[in-house]
Amino acid sequence: MNSKANWSSAEKALGLGHAVLCAYPAVGDEPFAVLLADDLLDAIPPVPPVMKQMVDVYDYYRTSVIGVQQVPREDTGSYGIVDSKPMNETLEQIVRIVEKPKPEEAPSTLAVVGRYVLTPRIFHHLANIGKGSGGEIQLTDGIAALLEEEQVLAYRYHGTRYDCGSKLGYLEAMVAFGLRHPEVGVAFAASLKRMT
Ligand code: G1P
Repeated sequence: MNSKANWSSAEKALGLGHAVLCAYPAVGDEPFAVLLADDLLDAIPPVPPVMKQMVDVYDYYRTSVIGVQQVPREDTGSYGIVDSKPMNETLEQIVRIVEKPKPEEAPSTLAVVGRYVLTPRIFHHLANIGKGSGGEIQLTDGIAALLEEEQVLAYRYHGTRYDCGSKLGYLEAMVAFGLRHPEVGVAFAASLKRMT
């Protein structure tokens, strides 16, 4: 990897792309997964976990795979947004990706959620791109550079996303998981009924 040594140091938080680059010594030249913990993706069995769904796509196509979902146009400024060509019901071939575009500039409303399976070539790009949106080293910009060389797929996952970076999303996740908890689910449902 052609890396700029100062950027691969974990001493400073310089953005998501930088955080991923810091993992290079641990990951090496292997494909790897990135899971952003504030996006909780819930797939209820028998639907396989979302990362398992994505690893299966990777295993078939052997190219990077990014989890996506539709969002309202007014929300594009909170996400990486892809411009893509549909391949089938769940997969798209990404032609462009932009970090947090304004609604009027967004190429679509298909947004990146915090799940990625990436080929190790991404490290090369993360080491060489500069600061992007918000003055940070953006994973999205690394993926945009990767796209010049390799196919990158957008995957419309099967499951429900809770945005645990927001108070409401976090509370909704607690309720959804609490209600089906094997020990306290029934009692929790009764409590909620009493409280509402
Ligand atoms: C990050 C990514 C963004 C992605 C989002 C998903 O943004 O930079 O491309 O759409 O996660 O949650 P953040 O939410 O950390 O600002």
